[in-house]
Amino acid sequence: MEQISTDVLIIGAGAAGLVCALELEGLDVCVVAKAPLGEGSSSAWAQGGIAAAMGEDDHPEHHLKDTLDVGVELSCKDAARVITHEGPELIEALIQWGMNFDRCDVGKLRLGREAAHSFRRILHANGDSTGKELMRALGQALMRTPQINVLENCHAYELIVENARVKGAFAKDALGNDLQITAGAVVMATGGVGGLFGYTTNPQTACGEGLAMAARAGARLADMEFVQFHPTAIDVGIKPMPLATEALRGEGAELLDSRGVRFMPAIHDDAELAPRDVVARAIWRRTKAGEKVYLDATKAVGAAFPDRFPTVWGYCRNSGLDPREEAIPVTPAAHYHMGGIDVDLDGRSSLFGLWAVGEAACTGVHGANRLASNSLLEAIVFGRRVAKDILMKNYKDPIYTDPQPTSSGTRDLSQPLADLLYKACGVERSESGLYEALAQIVDWQDQKGSFTPSFANKLIVAKMIIVSALERRESRGGHFRNDYPQTDPKQARRHKITLRETDAFIRGLNLGTDIQGAEKSCQKPA
Ligand code: SIN
Repeated sequence: MEQISTDVLIIGAGAAGLVCALELEGLDVCVVAKAPLGEGSSSAWAQGGIAAAMGEDDHPEHHLKDTLDVGVELSCKDAARVITHEGPELIEALIQWGMNFDRCDVGKLRLGREAAHSFRRILHANGDSTGKELMRALGQALMRTPQINVLENCHAYELIVENARVKGAFAKDALGNDLQITAGAVVMATGGVGGLFGYTTNPQTACGEGLAMAARAGARLADMEFVQFHPTAIDVGIKPMPLATEALRGEGAELLDSRGVRFMPAIHDDAELAPRDVVARAIWRRTKAGEKVYLDATKAVGAAFPDRFPTVWGYCRNSGLDPREEAIPVTPAAHYHMGGIDVDLDGRSSLFGLWAVGEAACTGVHGANRLASNSLLEAIVFGRRVAKDILMKNYKDPIYTDPQPTSSGTRDLSQPLADLLYKACGVERSESGLYEALAQIVDWQDQKGSFTPSFANKLIVAKMIIVSALERRESRGGHFRNDYPQTDPKQARRHKITLRETDAFIRGLNLGTDIQGAEKSCQKPA
């Protein structure tokens, strides 16, 4: 097995991982990227922008209040204060790294407004191509930084842990050769879990593997049940699904049912700009009943579509749609995970030697739901904080070690797992559906040893999401239980869970019996 040693190993090459790498001045950094740099990360696909209180009348405290309001009583206030107050200086850093934000005629940054923001504070680049421009700028800055070594098409699948300290990771390089990468500090920046679900707007590579690696090593995860489903993924049979940005609804695009009737005004005062989970549920219930739902931007955007929304325009044209003249078929899809590896305000996990950042981390900023355009903000702010913490602690000397990876096998059931999760743990959940999904996963896990390392990791994340969803017997933010449709003030607390606790919970169930019990106790959907 080839050995690599470095000061800091960063697993994942989205915005959070790259900002962290760029800020680790003076240390040797190895970035492991599952795909070529700039591809395969959700950051690059982000159409929405980056929120920061940069307007003359705005203030980080206003941004903080909006963030906490959307989090439905679960946000960690200190973490939310960190991103909202440090955001503006990170925007300046991005500009220094070469990022071009959209500007008004007089050269000032153009600030847009999105749902649940009380001020204009969303920065975009090239209209709906913010993520692409962000990753271009960070990628180029990286090329100018010789102490950062990027291993592209390299798949890390297991952490190296000795004496309760994380010391690196096992990986396979682009040619399938085994690598053992040892490091003084390891940063998990592997992104979200959307790729686990049958319908997602995330790259397939964003399938929670970093969470599973951390959990297997003993790290605590948090808020795993909170998955945000974006209401308007473009439904033209392409997977992962291209996104029709919320900004289209911000411009006045309307949601229509199969008969061409607009349905959101009857559901929520804010109609199409109601909270994402409300809009997603309204669409989901129609599609589940066999209807089609469409996003109609013909009047609101019309001929300006190609200039204003070049990314969505490209997706539509590739599918033979002309959104200037026809409505876009849409359906909800897994978009963002509020949960992840439990970390503190410096991005430190519960394991010595392991940090997490970006969507893979759970700082608690987003609580039960995420304010639009706060994800890239969190990624860049915490990217810098993690780097500062590592630099301060001087985790410089890599530790030499010689353990062997434990994962092996060749079987992969990713597609059945994706279908199972979207059905049982998607926009709406119920006890019976969650138990059934858990029983299937336990059944698959009993066949352990035969699965690929990647699929074995997916099963771990899936069961931790399901167990967390079972344990939250209420509806809140991104988590909707149709057997407990109300928010219960007594459950306004975060779930923190380890893999050991998850397995103990499952061992305590008689899954066959509980499925029957759950069916009996299941209430009528709201
Ligand atoms: C969107 O453009 O609709 C997505 C923005 C976000 O998820 O923050």
